[in-house]
Amino acid sequence: MNRQASSATKRLINFSAGPAVLPVEVLEEVRDNLLSLGDTGIGIMECSHRSKPFEDVLNAAERDCRELLNLPDNYAILFLQGGASTQFFHIPMNFMTGEAANYIDTGVWASKAIKEAKLFGDVHVAASGEAENYARLPKEFNWSDRGVYTHYTSNNTIYGTEFKRVPESPAPLICDASSNIMSGPMEPAKHVLIYAGAQKNLGPSGVTLVIIDKEFAERGGKNLPTMVQYRTHIKDNSLYNTPNTFGIFVMNRVFAWMKRQGGLEAIGKRNAEKAKALYDYLDSSAFWKAPVAQEDRSNMNVVFRLATEDLEKKLVNETEKAGLSGLKGHRSAGGLRASLYNAFTLEHVHELVAFLKEFERRNG
Ligand SMILES: Cc1ncc(COP(=O)(O)O)c(C=O)c1O
Repeated sequence: MNRQASSATKRLINFSAGPAVLPVEVLEEVRDNLLSLGDTGIGIMECSHRSKPFEDVLNAAERDCRELLNLPDNYAILFLQGGASTQFFHIPMNFMTGEAANYIDTGVWASKAIKEAKLFGDVHVAASGEAENYARLPKEFNWSDRGVYTHYTSNNTIYGTEFKRVPESPAPLICDASSNIMSGPMEPAKHVLIYAGAQKNLGPSGVTLVIIDKEFAERGGKNLPTMVQYRTHIKDNSLYNTPNTFGIFVMNRVFAWMKRQGGLEAIGKRNAEKAKALYDYLDSSAFWKAPVAQEDRSNMNVVFRLATEDLEKKLVNETEKAGLSGLKGHRSAGGLRASLYNAFTLEHVHELVAFLKEFERRNG
């Protein structure tokens, strides 16, 4: 089997939902900079966040991210910590403050955001996919006209649904894009805030990318702890305290790789092609079930099932032995899931399909 092998290291085909596969050429650059960042003689993890070499890394990461997204100047790009789960409470703590906000419930992560928001104000669930086991995205919304913002999750990592269009909402939009950030062209200008944990499409865990309209950030409460206020991080360019310097370096290299791939348009086309190759095969036989409504299927997380849990267990065991790692569905949903983030290759999707075909031949 062809592996994304870096010189001496054997690498599995990694379907993990996150942290997830990164481009080998990025990992090789990271390795090379561990001992010395460029020719500085100081490794990337040993380098002061106030030093000129690190400032160059941070500025390049911001510049390339802005270029890839074609992001207007009124947005700030922040590299924060605490994961997307920290944004679940930072957002309502800043902007809700006793007011109401609309939330779209599309599964576990959206529900966790809702739970946190309830601590700060009146959560109005404008639509929920719960009655359909989150296998279809809500199409109709019942907005509260008191909502100071609308929060949605653009890709539902566990259930394998993805908004193909930004929902129209009467209130400023906030998006948890953790599992499909920069997987294709985005429309940042339709949002006031987009956030994502880096560990799927952008780099290692431990950095959260936040894209925020600077004017909206100013609406945030002023009597909040300094670290919680977005204006703090905007003013200090993500350097109010020590950021995740290593994580930002890896993201900087991933952004450069994305540019070499042809940018978000080209990346989006490749992701659609990868997902189609797998969905087409799953749809071709009654042996497999892809439960998500066709129009809502995620290009990032392909969820599928077999007739029995025993057969699913058998498949997972066999794939693990064959070097196809991480196909087991999320513990809360069961079934099977292939995560096909940006760095996952079409060639490896073909290898999975070949494996599944053979499994079907023996068990169908
Ligand atoms: C859509 C989505 N939102 C939020 C999270 C939580 O992210 P974190 O672990 O960075 O807090 C995840 C994690 O998988 C996710 O998939």
